[in-house]
Amino acid sequence: MKVAALIPAAGSGTRLGLGPKAFVTVAGRSLLARSVAALAPHVAEVLVALPDGHALPPDLPARAITGGATRQATVHALLRATDADVVLVHDAARPFLPARVIAALCQAAQTGGAATAALPVADTLVQAGAAGPPQWGHLVPREGLWAVQTPQAFGRELLLRAHEAAARAGQSATDDAGLVARLGHAVALVPGDARLFKVTTPGDLALAQALAPVWDA
Ligand code: CTP
Ligand code: MG
Repeated sequence: MKVAALIPAAGSGTRLGLGPKAFVTVAGRSLLARSVAALAPHVAEVLVALPDGHALPPDLPARAITGGATRQATVHALLRATDADVVLVHDAARPFLPARVIAALCQAAQTGGAATAALPVADTLVQAGAAGPPQWGHLVPREGLWAVQTPQAFGRELLLRAHEAAARAGQSATDDAGLVARLGHAVALVPGDARLFKVTTPGDLALAQALAPVWDA
């Protein structure tokens, strides 16, 4: 069974404000290089989608294509560019990926067809009121709520079907597990890791810079 890692890295990094995020470095290594290095030992092939006009940096054990206008379009393009049986989709913007999570996802995908890393929500959740400055509206019980991360693992055919159905219906989702769930297919929740946070804002980058020396040691 051939397993491929698909890494959407074609975003523009608007919220971080430092250009395409995949090329932003943390302790001397780009977010993309960190994500590729975490996945490469566990898969037959790593396929990366980059912004138009960008080349894969040298020495990365990966193949590159050009991404799309949205993350969803990027993943759709990645899926069409591999013949693997199982795909692990992972955001380049999540550079700290433990091997344990990769192993658990591969196992779950081989038995059930779809799985995502996720963490039980620990904070109190509140729905703000609809109008005016943010104000406490009502409490959302956090029992049974999970925050979804990547990687996410799927049979390639299943995820391709989910993307094609969404494209036909003009539907979008923030991640691939959401598209597969919309088909009515079960998606297993596999314990992720707090260090798998997505580098989205300057505050996240500061956290990543603090964590990198510990992670690299
Ligand atoms: N991504 C992609 N193609 C897009 C948009 C996003 O491959 N058209 C990728 C990003 O490179 C990132 C992941 O999807 O690895 C998660 O997206 P996000 O954190 O939103 O990154 P950006 O879109 O780059 O950031 P922003 O939304 O702040 O512009
Ligand atoms: Mg984005």
